[in-house]
Amino acid sequence: MAEVSGPPLKLDGKISIITGGASGIGEATARLFVNHGALVVIADIQDELGQQVANSIGSKRCTYFHCDITDEQQVISAVNFTVKTYGRLDIMFSNAGIVSESNQTVLDLDLTQFDALIGVNARGTAACVKHAARAMVEKRVRGCIICTASVAASRGGSVRTDYVMAKHAVLGLVRSASKQLGEHGIRVNCVSPSAVVTPLSKRSPEAAKKTMKLYESLTSLKGMELTVEHVAEAVLFLASDGSSFITGHDLAVDGGLTKLPDADDLIMYNC
Ligand SMILES: NC(=O)c1ccc[n+]([C@@H]2O[C@H](COP(=O)([O-])OP(=O)(O)OC[C@H]3O[C@@H](n4cnc5c(N)ncnc54)[C@H](O)[C@@H]3O)[C@@H](O)[C@H]2O)c1
Repeated sequence: MAEVSGPPLKLDGKISIITGGASGIGEATARLFVNHGALVVIADIQDELGQQVANSIGSKRCTYFHCDITDEQQVISAVNFTVKTYGRLDIMFSNAGIVSESNQTVLDLDLTQFDALIGVNARGTAACVKHAARAMVEKRVRGCIICTASVAASRGGSVRTDYVMAKHAVLGLVRSASKQLGEHGIRVNCVSPSAVVTPLSKRSPEAAKKTMKLYESLTSLKGMELTVEHVAEAVLFLASDGSSFITGHDLAVDGGLTKLPDADDLIMYNC
């Protein structure tokens, strides 16, 4: 009898770290990566949740490692743990991020909140890219680095100035790192989602529904809303050989939102 085979695994045997993998986009990506044959280390600060997610995926394919990306030493430990356990690092998905507590405009910018947010979203992301790249260069791995930016990375926002600034920094990091690491065969790209319902926005289910309705009204693509699985599929593409000649790219996962002239007011309402 002929053997029945499924679709090809896009990340067979690839060793990956996913920061912020305990929840939302990171969790969905961890599940998708493992379904495509990858081994995943979830690096997060939500220990109980991260451990639960890793257990539910299966300890043979997924491990949880505590890592606060604002602490460079903890980022080094997560990378060292991965290389020591699995022999190398092929993929870094630097995705962990936060939003600020308030809708800050530049007039009322709270610089303490600003520092905290930049510390995670920009500085923390830079630490992850730096140490993933070092591990790849050291082991001569032609790896991939993917960051989560946002539609807020390329347009001004009416509110949440600190978040918009941090996401612009992520895009600058991706563009620079892709130039600098190309000679080592390392690709660096980012995904830029519009609004997607996750615990990040700290909104009630009703408020989240309202936000998504608002986004749908200004998005080209009708009849569906963005989910974490859509974002994970875009990350999988950037991590796989299907994108092997793509680097320095910002892949918008936004149903066409950023292509519309009246998108500015909406961008940074939430994402
Ligand atoms: N949800 C959206 O609408 C949206 C839109 C565009 C971009 N994004 C970006 O997507 C990424 C993931 O967000 P999400 O929506 O899945 O949110 P989420 O809150 O579900 O997940 C974020 C994860 O990051 C972790 N994290 C936070 N600070 C950390 C730190 N210092 N060290 C390690 N881990 C830390 C959290 O514990 C959490 O598990 C973020 O970078 C966010 O800015 C989200």
